[in-house]
Amino acid sequence: MEQPFRKDMSHLSWDEVYARQMKRADLVPEWMDALALKAGDRVLEVGAGPGYVSLVLAERVGPQGLVYAIDRSAEALAHLERLQRERGVSQVRRLVADAATLDGEDLEANRALCTMVLHHADDAAALLRNLYRLLPPHSRIVVAEFHPQGPCEVGAPREHRLAPEQVQAWCEDAGFRVLDMRRQTPEHYMLVAERAP
Ligand SMILES: C[S@@+](CC[C@H](N)C(=O)[O-])C[C@H]1O[C@@H](n2cnc3c(N)ncnc32)[C@H](O)[C@@H]1O
Repeated sequence: MEQPFRKDMSHLSWDEVYARQMKRADLVPEWMDALALKAGDRVLEVGAGPGYVSLVLAERVGPQGLVYAIDRSAEALAHLERLQRERGVSQVRRLVADAATLDGEDLEANRALCTMVLHHADDAAALLRNLYRLLPPHSRIVVAEFHPQGPCEVGAPREHRLAPEQVQAWCEDAGFRVLDMRRQTPEHYMLVAERAP
């Protein structure tokens, strides 16, 4: 029987999370296009989990680019490490850290993706404030979440879903200018924002 949702993700194995990531695969190209992500780019993936999205990003940026896969779970990133080894992918750098407090002094990226993470975060507003600190001016970010008015056939239960207006307000309070907000499917929406100077 399926375990009830837990914000800390302890209701799922990382294999199960990976399987869920694969089911959302169709969302990823739109996130990458909104970031204008191309070969040679450096991108932060905040809350990478077991790494399905990180590997798709790695394919897009190619061997000259770099993906920083940040997650607070060492087990999730160990899953990604195993897949990197099996597939010979070296352009993903894994960082076990809380994205809300990560210092990130040595990170060099001007794009960031934060998808299906904020409803698991202890302090989503602090995470976005720290993301502002980690990125240079004019960096592009994409934030995606489950829509509270979706059918809730997949993803987080309705009571854990974040309203797009709430996510927009957190982004703006952190110093990002929201450029676009769109529904990707009945269950999912995304925001595109730019870091103010
Ligand atoms: C549902 S998974 C999303 C994975 C991936 N972003 C995706 O779109 O499929 C959420 C991930 O966010 C991570 N997470 C939540 N809060 C975090 C934080 N403050 N810092 C780093 N990782 C965090 C969790 O450990 C988990 O791996």
